[in-house]
Amino acid sequence: MMLSQTGQTDAVREFAVAVGASLRKMGQRELPSMYLYDDLGTALFDAITLLPEYGLTRAEERLLRRHAGDMLEHLPPPVAVVELGSGSGRKTRWILEALANREPVTYFPIDISAAALIKCHQELGHIGAISIVGLEKSYLEGLQEAAARRRPDQTLLVLFLGSTIGNFDPPAAEKFLHDIRLHLKPGDALFLGTDVEKSVHDMQLAYDDPTGVTAAFNLNLLARINRELGGDFVLPHFEHHVQYQEMDCRIEMHLRSTRRQTVSIRAADFTCTFREGETIWTEACHKFRVEEIPGIARRTGFLCEAQWIDTEWAFAENLLIAD
Ligand code: AVI
Repeated sequence: MMLSQTGQTDAVREFAVAVGASLRKMGQRELPSMYLYDDLGTALFDAITLLPEYGLTRAEERLLRRHAGDMLEHLPPPVAVVELGSGSGRKTRWILEALANREPVTYFPIDISAAALIKCHQELGHIGAISIVGLEKSYLEGLQEAAARRRPDQTLLVLFLGSTIGNFDPPAAEKFLHDIRLHLKPGDALFLGTDVEKSVHDMQLAYDDPTGVTAAFNLNLLARINRELGGDFVLPHFEHHVQYQEMDCRIEMHLRSTRRQTVSIRAADFTCTFREGETIWTEACHKFRVEEIPGIARRTGFLCEAQWIDTEWAFAENLLIAD
């Protein structure tokens, strides 16, 4: 842990700088969505995945459970698996079990959370013929290391599941896929999970559940700023607000100020007055059309070789092969 002259850790300093810069933005104020995921935020997100209204995670699990064998038929053995943002690795089990049935597997889960990597070991360590090499790093740093450690005969299979790609804005998403491609060899593969556009009613409900779990997940970001950066947000004076932007095919999560109020954040040297009704934009969740994935693949150095679509909840698992 690095301490600066002011006694702050580098991570807290970075958090404070990012929060200050996003809240000072002219026009729409924002907070970076990556900071939704502290330990409490991660636990709340895990609860979201169990909500009846949030079908995304179950849809992907169904696809992986039913089709892992077909998906892997496209990849010549031996395969090394790299997962970007593995979390506990629950969904990955189906892929790893199917692979372990045909060959010994090396699995590199990548996550910035040490706790997630420990859970991943607990969840997947029992699978026979698997060696797990957890990398506590950012996505691309981890991928670089896994790519450097692969054996020359191994095909690399990168997993980027859960429609996390939808939390990037579209230009950043394509840049990220292109950056992944730079670490791969022709013939390597990327399984990309993408949530698909559905009725506005279903999408709204998935992000504004009646139980209030997603609201708690969103509000926890203000609570986290209070805890870690000396903020004085009064949580009951903000409310969870979700809107669908049809033009951009995205659900947006906001926190709306229910009154005129002044808020300060000590570590970010920030004070501002929010108008009644003014919002802070905290997360964008893009929804895709199945037909647009092959174009995204082509523009980022891949070919979309196959797609599997869940029939209960529109969600696509896309197999992209490095060109
Ligand atoms: C992590 N990510 C794919 C989730 C999503 O659906 O965009 C995050 C989330 N935010 C609110 N609910 C779920």
